[in-house]
Amino acid sequence: MQRNIYFLITSLEKCIKIRYNQECEIYNYCSIADTEHTAARDAHPADSRFQIRSKAAAFRTAVSICYQGEKKKMKIVLEHLTKKFPSRGKKNPGDVTAVSDFTCEIPDGELVGLLGPSGCGKSTTLNMICGLEAPTGGKIFFGEEDVTKLSPELRGVGMVFQNYALYPHLNVRQNIQFPLENLRGKDRLTKEEMEQRVSETAHLVQIEDLMDRKPGELSGGQQQRVAIARALVKFPRVLLLDEPLSNLDARLRLQTREEIRKIQKKTGITTVFVTHDQDEAMSICDRIAVMQNGVLMQQGHPQEVYDNPSSLFVAKFLGTPPINVFQGSVRNQMLYIGEQPVLPVSGAADQEVWAAIRPEGFLLQPDGPLACHLERVEVMGRDVSVISSHSACTSQTLRSIISAETRVDTASPTVRFALKPGKVFLFEKETEKRIPFGKENS
Ligand SMILES: Nc1ncnc2c1ncn2[C@@H]1O[C@H](COP(=O)(O)OP(=O)(O)OP(=O)(O)O)[C@@H](O)[C@H]1O
Ligand SMILES: [Mg+2]
Repeated sequence: MQRNIYFLITSLEKCIKIRYNQECEIYNYCSIADTEHTAARDAHPADSRFQIRSKAAAFRTAVSICYQGEKKKMKIVLEHLTKKFPSRGKKNPGDVTAVSDFTCEIPDGELVGLLGPSGCGKSTTLNMICGLEAPTGGKIFFGEEDVTKLSPELRGVGMVFQNYALYPHLNVRQNIQFPLENLRGKDRLTKEEMEQRVSETAHLVQIEDLMDRKPGELSGGQQQRVAIARALVKFPRVLLLDEPLSNLDARLRLQTREEIRKIQKKTGITTVFVTHDQDEAMSICDRIAVMQNGVLMQQGHPQEVYDNPSSLFVAKFLGTPPINVFQGSVRNQMLYIGEQPVLPVSGAADQEVWAAIRPEGFLLQPDGPLACHLERVEVMGRDVSVISSHSACTSQTLRSIISAETRVDTASPTVRFALKPGKVFLFEKETEKRIPFGKENS
């Protein structure tokens, strides 16, 4: 619940009303702004909160922290957001619709992953949120404020680009400080305040010992953290990350994504994270939004979307190894793959379907209804991956993951499976939309 706190800063002879909805850290700053501050500073030399030199500086720090607290709570609402680019080619004279009727709400303080294949409109969506692209239609709200027509510098957005975009001639400290030097009016900071902000942000992303190096003298992961620090230093209302990990090797990528999550949780900034790597999005995001051809296909908590894909596209996009897709048919509430009846599907009407089965949806069973041609078995520690083939499968091989304790008879040319109903999804043949069926046996 939000609280209204009135601070009387006597030296400034002003009564300042500051709305603050977090722990009352601000009180520490203000309370040491009176005569006690020197004593407090001497008593706690290691505590940076007490390193404030004057009442006026204490007041400014307090307000900026309060401001940060206020800014932290910032939902983003996209309403029918559309972006069309005029075509330049003579062969295709129509407009390019990069984003089409995109509507979604990103709750306060959440990390949302924007996912989709190359060219589906992820960067364009992000560029519209930060103000680099003007939408052709629709609106963008930060909290209750309509920011659709607001210029980028007034939106309070921190953006990290895919290629980091650090200034090569400036060292790390100067790169991080750069956005603060352009602050004007009430946001303008003194030299000491800038230095304090820069060192606090550098501490957050753990690059304090690199401050005097130029970007060319840093590894990819270190440059990445500098770019994140530069985006965070202005206390943005919203943090936008466009494929920030794509230039890193697999191990650094894993490590950096954990770091991004940690920083995001610590600062509580509403964040949109663009990636085409579904594993990345599934592992660190509070929710994901999956796009295809400029259209938002589905959004929700990662597990929810994985367990309940609304279309074949989303089912195929999420999951490693990928879902196995078969040509199937429903007859008398029974799913057939080829001529084999493999699963009762109560409530589904007779029709040709796409039957998609997650790798973990297969149960090895000597008399199981789905017979496949065994290709090979890969042991992966806890699990065993059985690679087989079936004429109705849309890919050459299908992959099922079963427990390592189950013994696979590799001498046999055939492997038989039963299916877990909760891991089987049916989709309409034409529209590729989900067909619900009763899963009372799951
Ligand atoms: N300035 C532009 N002029 C014309 N078309 C554009 C422009 N910018 C983007 N597009 C087109 O809009 C579509 C979406 O592009 P966008 O860059 O948003 O995709 P993306 O999802 O970020 O892809 P990637 O994963 O490859 O970065 C693409 O078809 C692209 O060619
Ligand atoms: Mg992009």
